[in-house]
Amino acid sequence: MSSNKIILTGDRPTGRLHIGHYVGSLRRRIELQNEGDYQRMFVFVADAQALTDNMENPEKVRQNVVEVALDYLACGLDPEKVTLFIQSQIPELCELAFYFMNLVSVSRLQRNPTVKTEIQMRGFESSIPVGFFTYPISQAADITAFRATTVPAGEDQKPMIEQATEIVRRFNHIYGETLVEPNIMLPQNNACLRLPGTDGKAKMSKSLGNCIYLSDTEEDVKKKVMSMYTDPLHINVSDPGHIEGNTVFTYLDAFCKPEHFGLYNPEYNSLDELKAHYQRGGLGDMKVKRFLLNILQAELEPIRNRRKEFEKDIPAIYDMLRKGSEAAREVAAQTLDDVRRAMRINYFDDAELIAEQAKRFG
Ligand code: TRP
Repeated sequence: MSSNKIILTGDRPTGRLHIGHYVGSLRRRIELQNEGDYQRMFVFVADAQALTDNMENPEKVRQNVVEVALDYLACGLDPEKVTLFIQSQIPELCELAFYFMNLVSVSRLQRNPTVKTEIQMRGFESSIPVGFFTYPISQAADITAFRATTVPAGEDQKPMIEQATEIVRRFNHIYGETLVEPNIMLPQNNACLRLPGTDGKAKMSKSLGNCIYLSDTEEDVKKKVMSMYTDPLHINVSDPGHIEGNTVFTYLDAFCKPEHFGLYNPEYNSLDELKAHYQRGGLGDMKVKRFLLNILQAELEPIRNRRKEFEKDIPAIYDMLRKGSEAAREVAAQTLDDVRRAMRINYFDDAELIAEQAKRFG
Protein backbone atom coordinates (compact mmCIF):
# COMPACT_ATOMS: atom_id res chain seq x y z
CA MET A 1 0.00 0.00 0.00
CA SER A 2 1.41 3.37 -0.87
CA SER A 3 0.38 6.48 1.02
CA ASN A 4 -0.52 9.86 -0.38
CA LYS A 5 2.91 11.20 0.34
CA ILE A 6 4.54 13.23 -2.38
CA ILE A 7 8.26 13.41 -1.75
CA LEU A 8 10.41 16.13 -3.28
CA THR A 9 13.91 17.37 -2.76
CA GLY A 10 16.88 18.72 -4.69
CA ASP A 11 20.45 19.96 -4.62
CA ARG A 12 22.27 22.91 -6.09
CA PRO A 13 24.75 21.87 -8.76
CA THR A 14 27.76 23.80 -7.51
CA GLY A 15 30.00 20.77 -7.12
CA ARG A 16 30.01 17.01 -6.78
CA LEU A 17 28.05 15.71 -3.81
CA HIS A 18 29.90 14.71 -0.64
CA ILE A 19 29.21 12.45 2.31
CA GLY A 20 27.58 15.35 4.16
CA HIS A 21 24.88 15.34 1.48
CA TYR A 22 24.80 11.58 1.74
CA VAL A 23 24.06 11.24 5.45
CA GLY A 24 22.02 14.44 5.49
CA SER A 25 19.55 13.41 2.84
CA LEU A 26 20.71 11.17 -0.03
CA ARG A 27 20.86 7.95 1.99
CA ARG A 28 17.36 8.60 3.25
CA ARG A 29 16.04 9.23 -0.25
CA ILE A 30 17.19 5.82 -1.39
CA GLU A 31 15.44 4.20 1.58
CA LEU A 32 12.27 6.17 0.87
CA GLN A 33 12.44 5.23 -2.80
CA ASN A 34 12.81 1.56 -1.99
CA GLU A 35 10.15 1.50 0.72
CA GLY A 36 7.73 2.72 -1.95
CA ASP A 37 5.45 4.39 0.57
CA TYR A 38 4.56 7.38 -1.60
CA GLN A 39 2.37 8.45 -4.42
CA ARG A 40 5.21 10.08 -6.25
CA MET A 41 8.79 11.07 -5.64
CA PHE A 42 10.74 13.89 -7.30
CA VAL A 43 14.43 14.68 -7.01
CA PHE A 44 15.84 17.59 -8.94
CA VAL A 45 18.96 19.51 -9.78
CA ALA A 46 18.38 23.08 -8.57
CA ASP A 47 20.38 24.84 -11.28
CA ALA A 48 18.25 28.00 -11.25
CA GLN A 49 18.82 28.33 -7.52
CA ALA A 50 22.54 27.70 -7.98
CA LEU A 51 22.60 30.62 -10.40
CA THR A 52 21.24 33.00 -7.76
CA ASP A 53 24.71 33.21 -6.24
CA ASN A 54 26.71 32.08 -9.26
CA MET A 55 25.40 34.42 -11.90
CA GLU A 56 28.93 35.05 -13.12
CA ASN A 57 29.72 31.35 -13.30
CA PRO A 58 27.12 29.81 -15.57
CA GLU A 59 29.63 27.28 -16.86
CA LYS A 60 30.29 25.97 -13.37
CA VAL A 61 26.59 25.34 -12.83
CA ARG A 62 26.24 23.80 -16.28
CA GLN A 63 29.11 21.36 -15.73
CA ASN A 64 27.88 20.30 -12.33
CA VAL A 65 24.36 19.37 -13.40
CA VAL A 66 25.58 16.09 -14.79
CA GLU A 67 27.90 15.55 -11.81
CA VAL A 68 24.96 15.76 -9.43
CA ALA A 69 22.84 13.54 -11.66
CA LEU A 70 25.66 10.98 -11.70
CA ASP A 71 25.90 11.13 -7.92
CA TYR A 72 22.14 10.54 -7.67
CA LEU A 73 22.28 7.50 -9.91
CA ALA A 74 25.43 6.22 -8.23
CA CYS A 75 23.72 6.33 -4.85
CA GLY A 76 20.90 4.25 -6.24
CA LEU A 77 18.15 6.67 -7.20
CA ASP A 78 16.22 4.87 -9.89
CA PRO A 79 14.57 6.91 -12.68
CA GLU A 80 11.95 4.16 -12.96
CA LYS A 81 10.75 5.02 -9.48
CA VAL A 82 11.73 8.64 -9.04
CA THR A 83 11.23 11.57 -11.41
CA LEU A 84 14.64 13.20 -11.80
CA PHE A 85 14.63 16.61 -13.43
CA ILE A 86 16.37 19.95 -13.91
CA GLN A 87 14.76 22.94 -12.21
CA SER A 88 15.34 25.51 -14.96
CA GLN A 89 13.47 23.36 -17.46
CA ILE A 90 10.19 23.95 -15.61
CA PRO A 91 9.20 27.58 -16.43
CA GLU A 92 6.03 27.17 -14.36
CA LEU A 93 8.26 27.45 -11.28
CA CYS A 94 9.19 31.02 -12.21
CA GLU A 95 5.57 31.91 -12.75
CA LEU A 96 4.55 30.54 -9.39
CA ALA A 97 7.43 32.28 -7.63
CA PHE A 98 6.38 35.56 -9.21
CA TYR A 99 2.89 35.27 -7.69
CA PHE A 100 4.28 34.14 -4.35
CA MET A 101 6.38 37.31 -4.16
CA ASN A 102 3.21 39.24 -3.39
CA LEU A 103 2.68 37.14 -0.28
CA VAL A 104 6.04 37.70 1.43
CA SER A 105 7.45 40.84 3.02
CA VAL A 106 11.04 42.01 2.72
CA SER A 107 11.45 41.91 6.50
CA ARG A 108 10.26 38.30 6.57
CA LEU A 109 12.97 37.35 4.08
CA GLN A 110 15.55 39.29 6.05
CA ARG A 111 14.82 37.14 9.09
CA ASN A 112 15.58 33.86 7.30
CA PRO A 113 18.63 32.56 9.22
CA THR A 114 19.95 30.41 6.37
CA VAL A 115 19.87 33.32 3.93
CA LYS A 116 21.47 35.54 6.58
CA THR A 117 24.44 33.21 6.99
CA GLU A 118 24.77 32.73 3.27
CA ILE A 119 24.79 36.50 2.69
CA GLN A 120 27.65 36.79 5.17
CA MET A 121 29.57 33.85 3.73
CA ARG A 122 29.37 35.31 0.23
CA GLY A 123 30.20 38.87 1.29
CA PHE A 124 26.91 40.13 -0.18
CA GLU A 125 26.20 42.51 2.73
CA SER A 126 26.47 45.72 0.74
CA SER A 127 24.94 44.45 -2.46
CA ILE A 128 22.55 41.52 -2.25
CA PRO A 129 21.25 40.29 -5.59
CA VAL A 130 17.44 40.35 -5.49
CA GLY A 131 17.29 36.87 -7.00
CA PHE A 132 19.45 35.48 -4.23
CA PHE A 133 17.56 37.35 -1.53
CA THR A 134 14.27 35.91 -2.75
CA TYR A 135 15.38 32.33 -3.37
CA PRO A 136 13.32 31.05 -0.42
CA ILE A 137 10.26 32.17 -2.39
CA SER A 138 11.44 30.35 -5.46
CA GLN A 139 12.09 27.31 -3.32
CA ALA A 140 8.52 27.50 -2.02
CA ALA A 141 7.45 27.35 -5.66
CA ASP A 142 9.65 24.27 -6.26
CA ILE A 143 7.94 22.52 -3.41
CA THR A 144 4.34 23.54 -3.94
CA ALA A 145 4.28 23.18 -7.73
CA PHE A 146 4.57 19.44 -7.17
CA ARG A 147 2.21 19.41 -4.16
CA ALA A 148 5.02 17.96 -2.08
CA THR A 149 4.02 16.79 1.39
CA THR A 150 7.45 15.59 2.42
CA VAL A 151 10.82 17.23 1.88
CA PRO A 152 13.82 15.15 3.04
CA ALA A 153 16.55 17.69 3.72
CA GLY A 154 19.14 18.88 6.19
CA GLU A 155 18.55 21.19 9.10
CA ASP A 156 19.66 24.24 7.10
CA GLN A 157 16.57 23.82 4.94
CA LYS A 158 14.17 24.20 7.87
CA PRO A 159 13.69 27.96 7.39
CA MET A 160 12.88 27.31 3.71
CA ILE A 161 10.15 24.84 4.56
CA GLU A 162 8.76 27.23 7.18
CA GLN A 163 8.69 29.97 4.57
CA ALA A 164 6.93 27.67 2.11
CA THR A 165 4.37 26.68 4.72
CA GLU A 166 3.59 30.33 5.45
CA ILE A 167 3.16 31.06 1.77
CA VAL A 168 0.82 28.10 1.33
CA ARG A 169 -1.33 29.22 4.28
CA ARG A 170 -1.46 32.79 3.04
CA PHE A 171 -2.27 31.68 -0.50
CA ASN A 172 -5.01 29.29 0.58
CA HIS A 173 -6.44 31.90 2.93
CA ILE A 174 -6.74 34.53 0.22
CA TYR A 175 -7.53 32.45 -2.85
CA GLY A 176 -9.13 29.35 -1.38
CA GLU A 177 -7.75 25.89 -0.59
CA THR A 178 -5.35 25.22 -3.50
CA LEU A 179 -1.85 24.35 -2.30
CA VAL A 180 -0.47 21.66 0.00
CA GLU A 181 1.56 22.37 3.16
CA PRO A 182 4.97 20.66 3.12
CA ASN A 183 6.80 18.99 6.00
CA ILE A 184 10.55 18.66 6.36
CA MET A 185 11.96 15.21 7.00
CA LEU A 186 15.19 15.61 8.94
CA PRO A 187 17.84 12.91 9.40
CA GLN A 188 17.13 10.68 12.41
CA ASN A 189 20.60 10.91 13.83
CA ASN A 190 22.14 14.09 15.27
CA ALA A 191 25.55 13.49 13.70
CA CYS A 192 23.85 13.47 10.29
CA LEU A 193 22.20 16.85 10.73
CA ARG A 194 25.42 18.70 10.09
CA LEU A 195 28.35 16.47 9.33
CA PRO A 196 31.52 18.50 9.99
CA GLY A 197 34.37 18.73 7.51
CA THR A 198 37.39 16.42 7.86
CA ASP A 199 39.21 19.36 9.51
CA GLY A 200 36.57 19.50 12.25
CA LYS A 201 35.18 22.77 10.87
CA ALA A 202 31.47 23.37 11.08
CA LYS A 203 30.41 22.15 7.68
CA MET A 204 31.81 20.38 4.65
CA SER A 205 32.42 22.94 1.99
CA LYS A 206 34.27 22.79 -1.26
CA SER A 207 36.05 26.09 -0.63
CA LEU A 208 37.50 24.79 2.65
CA GLY A 209 38.74 21.59 0.97
CA ASN A 210 37.43 19.51 3.86
CA CYS A 211 35.01 17.24 2.01
CA ILE A 212 34.97 13.57 1.25
CA TYR A 213 33.20 13.27 -2.09
CA LEU A 214 31.05 10.33 -3.08
CA SER A 215 33.18 10.09 -6.21
CA ASP A 216 36.54 10.25 -4.42
CA THR A 217 38.92 7.39 -5.19
CA GLU A 218 39.80 4.81 -2.56
CA GLU A 219 43.18 6.53 -2.16
CA ASP A 220 41.62 9.98 -1.66
CA VAL A 221 39.28 8.66 1.02
CA LYS A 222 42.18 6.98 2.79
CA LYS A 223 44.27 10.14 2.78
CA LYS A 224 41.40 12.24 4.05
CA VAL A 225 40.42 9.87 6.84
CA MET A 226 43.98 9.31 8.01
CA SER A 227 44.61 13.06 8.30
CA MET A 228 41.28 13.80 9.91
CA TYR A 229 40.94 16.14 12.86
CA THR A 230 40.56 14.29 16.18
CA ASP A 231 41.29 15.39 19.73
CA PRO A 232 44.28 17.75 19.87
CA LEU A 233 44.80 16.86 23.56
CA HIS A 234 45.03 13.14 22.81
CA ILE A 235 48.78 13.04 22.19
CA ASN A 236 49.88 9.67 23.52
CA VAL A 237 47.82 6.52 23.09
CA SER A 238 47.58 6.24 26.86
CA ASP A 239 46.10 9.74 27.25
CA PRO A 240 42.39 9.97 27.94
CA GLY A 241 40.64 11.21 24.78
CA HIS A 242 37.66 13.41 24.08
CA ILE A 243 34.71 12.32 21.95
CA GLU A 244 32.96 15.64 21.73
CA GLY A 245 34.06 17.62 18.68
CA ASN A 246 36.18 14.67 17.60
CA THR A 247 35.44 14.34 13.91
CA VAL A 248 36.31 10.66 13.68
CA PHE A 249 33.71 9.83 16.32
CA THR A 250 31.14 12.15 14.77
CA TYR A 251 31.61 10.29 11.48
CA LEU A 252 31.29 6.98 13.32
CA ASP A 253 28.01 8.23 14.81
CA ALA A 254 26.82 8.92 11.28
CA PHE A 255 28.06 5.76 9.57
CA CYS A 256 28.68 2.98 12.07
CA LYS A 257 26.18 0.11 12.33
CA PRO A 258 26.27 -2.74 14.87
CA GLU A 259 27.42 -5.27 12.25
CA HIS A 260 30.55 -3.22 11.55
CA PHE A 261 32.10 -4.42 14.82
CA GLY A 262 31.94 -8.07 13.84
CA LEU A 263 33.33 -7.22 10.41
CA TYR A 264 36.12 -4.77 11.20
CA ASN A 265 36.58 -4.39 14.94
CA PRO A 266 35.68 -7.58 16.85
CA GLU A 267 37.40 -6.41 20.04
CA TYR A 268 34.36 -4.21 20.71
CA ASN A 269 30.63 -4.85 20.71
CA SER A 270 29.33 -1.34 20.30
CA LEU A 271 30.24 2.26 19.60
CA ASP A 272 29.67 3.04 23.28
CA GLU A 273 32.33 0.52 24.24
CA LEU A 274 34.78 1.96 21.73
CA LYS A 275 34.09 5.51 22.95
CA ALA A 276 34.52 4.45 26.59
CA HIS A 277 37.93 2.95 25.83
CA TYR A 278 39.01 6.11 24.00
CA GLN A 279 37.89 8.27 26.90
CA ARG A 280 39.67 6.07 29.44
CA GLY A 281 42.90 6.20 27.46
CA GLY A 282 44.79 3.41 25.76
CA LEU A 283 43.10 3.58 22.36
CA GLY A 284 45.06 5.29 19.59
CA ASP A 285 43.60 7.57 16.91
CA MET A 286 45.03 5.39 14.14
CA LYS A 287 43.01 2.40 15.25
CA VAL A 288 39.79 4.38 15.32
CA LYS A 289 40.57 5.96 11.98
CA ARG A 290 41.25 2.57 10.42
CA PHE A 291 37.89 1.34 11.66
CA LEU A 292 36.13 4.40 10.20
CA LEU A 293 38.05 3.96 6.95
CA ASN A 294 36.84 0.36 6.59
CA ILE A 295 33.26 1.44 7.16
CA LEU A 296 33.48 4.34 4.71
CA GLN A 297 35.16 2.30 2.00
CA ALA A 298 32.49 -0.38 2.27
CA GLU A 299 29.75 2.22 1.95
CA LEU A 300 31.40 4.23 -0.81
CA GLU A 301 32.81 1.46 -3.00
CA PRO A 302 29.52 0.39 -4.60
CA ILE A 303 28.61 4.06 -5.16
CA ARG A 304 31.97 4.72 -6.82
CA ASN A 305 31.62 1.65 -9.02
CA ARG A 306 28.08 2.45 -10.11
CA ARG A 307 29.16 5.98 -10.97
CA LYS A 308 31.87 4.66 -13.27
CA GLU A 309 29.28 2.58 -15.10
CA PHE A 310 26.92 5.54 -15.54
CA GLU A 311 29.79 7.76 -16.69
CA LYS A 312 30.17 5.51 -19.73
CA ASP A 313 26.93 6.77 -21.25
CA ILE A 314 26.49 10.48 -20.61
CA PRO A 315 23.97 11.00 -23.44
CA ALA A 316 21.71 8.49 -21.65
CA ILE A 317 21.90 10.63 -18.49
CA TYR A 318 20.73 13.70 -20.40
CA ASP A 319 18.01 11.66 -22.06
CA MET A 320 16.78 10.50 -18.67
CA LEU A 321 16.85 14.08 -17.32
CA ARG A 322 14.96 15.37 -20.35
CA LYS A 323 12.22 12.76 -19.91
CA GLY A 324 12.07 13.47 -16.19
CA SER A 325 11.84 17.20 -16.82
CA GLU A 326 9.00 16.69 -19.28
CA ALA A 327 7.09 14.55 -16.81
CA ALA A 328 7.72 17.03 -13.99
CA ARG A 329 6.57 19.90 -16.16
CA GLU A 330 3.20 18.26 -16.73
CA VAL A 331 2.64 18.07 -12.98
CA ALA A 332 3.70 21.68 -12.40
CA ALA A 333 1.49 22.85 -15.28
CA GLN A 334 -1.53 21.24 -13.63
CA THR A 335 -0.83 23.00 -10.36
CA LEU A 336 -0.42 26.29 -12.22
CA ASP A 337 -3.83 25.80 -13.85
CA ASP A 338 -5.30 25.52 -10.36
CA VAL A 339 -3.31 28.51 -9.16
CA ARG A 340 -4.41 30.70 -12.05
CA ARG A 341 -8.03 29.71 -11.53
CA ALA A 342 -7.80 30.45 -7.81
CA MET A 343 -6.11 33.79 -8.47
CA ARG A 344 -8.76 34.79 -11.00
CA ILE A 345 -6.32 35.12 -13.88
CA ASN A 346 -7.65 32.26 -16.01
CA TYR A 347 -9.44 34.57 -18.46
CA PHE A 348 -9.56 32.47 -21.60
CA ASP A 349 -10.87 29.25 -20.13
CA ASP A 350 -13.55 31.00 -18.07
CA ALA A 351 -16.62 31.07 -20.31
CA GLU A 352 -18.70 32.34 -17.40
CA LEU A 353 -16.57 35.42 -16.95
CA ILE A 354 -16.77 36.26 -20.63
CA ALA A 355 -20.56 35.69 -20.78
CA GLU A 356 -21.12 37.78 -17.64
CA GLN A 357 -19.12 40.69 -18.94
CA ALA A 358 -20.77 40.45 -22.34
CA LYS A 359 -24.09 40.91 -20.54
CA ARG A 360 -22.81 43.74 -18.38
CA PHE A 361 -21.53 45.71 -21.34
CA GLY A 362 -24.32 44.63 -23.68
N1 TRP B 1 18.20 24.74 -1.16
C1 TRP B 1 18.61 23.42 -1.56
C2 TRP B 1 20.13 23.35 -1.47
O1 TRP B 1 20.76 24.31 -1.11
C3 TRP B 1 18.18 23.05 -2.95
C4 TRP B 1 16.71 23.16 -3.20
C5 TRP B 1 16.10 24.00 -4.10
C6 TRP B 1 15.69 22.39 -2.58
N2 TRP B 1 14.76 23.81 -4.07
C7 TRP B 1 14.45 22.83 -3.15
C8 TRP B 1 15.66 21.39 -1.60
C9 TRP B 1 13.24 22.29 -2.77
C10 TRP B 1 14.44 20.87 -1.21
C11 TRP B 1 13.23 21.31 -1.79
O2 TRP B 1 20.73 22.34 -1.78
